[in-house]
Amino acid sequence: MKPEELIRHALEARTRAYVPYSGYPVGAAVLAANGDVIVGCNVENAAYPSTICAERVALTAAVAQGARNFVAIAVVTRNGGSPCGACRQVMLELGPEMLVYIADERGAYRTTTVRDLLPDGFDNTRLNA
Ligand code: THU
Repeated sequence: MKPEELIRHALEARTRAYVPYSGYPVGAAVLAANGDVIVGCNVENAAYPSTICAERVALTAAVAQGARNFVAIAVVTRNGGSPCGACRQVMLELGPEMLVYIADERGAYRTTTVRDLLPDGFDNTRLNA
C-alpha cells in the first residue's frame, strides 16, 4: 500500500478525534502484514492524563482484532507533529520494524522509522538477559 493511502485512512480517522480540551485532533492508521488497516484517533478525558493518543488507540485496537505484524503507521496532525514518547515506546513493543509516516492535514509527509524515533529504546531483549 502506498503511503498516501495509509495517510488517507489516518486523515479520515482524525475527523473522529474526541478533543474537547486541546482542540488538537490526531489520526493514525496501522498497516498489518496481511494488508489490514486499523485506525485510531485521540480520545481525551476531563482527567487529562487519562487521554489516549491516536497511535496507541490504533495499535491496541489492531492487537485486539488479532493483528500482530505491522509494516507501517501513518500519523496525521494539523502541522506534522511527531509522535509522543509513550507512543514511540508502544511502537517499539508492537511494531519495531515499522515505517512511520508523519503527515500534516494537507497530506504532506516525511518518512522515518521506529528505531530512528526511539534510539536505544528499552525492549523485551532486556527482560530475560
Ligand atoms: N496526541 C496524539 O494523539 N498523539 C501524539 O503522538 C501526540 C499527542 C494527542 C494527545 C492529546 O489529545 C493531543 O494530541 C494534544 O496533546
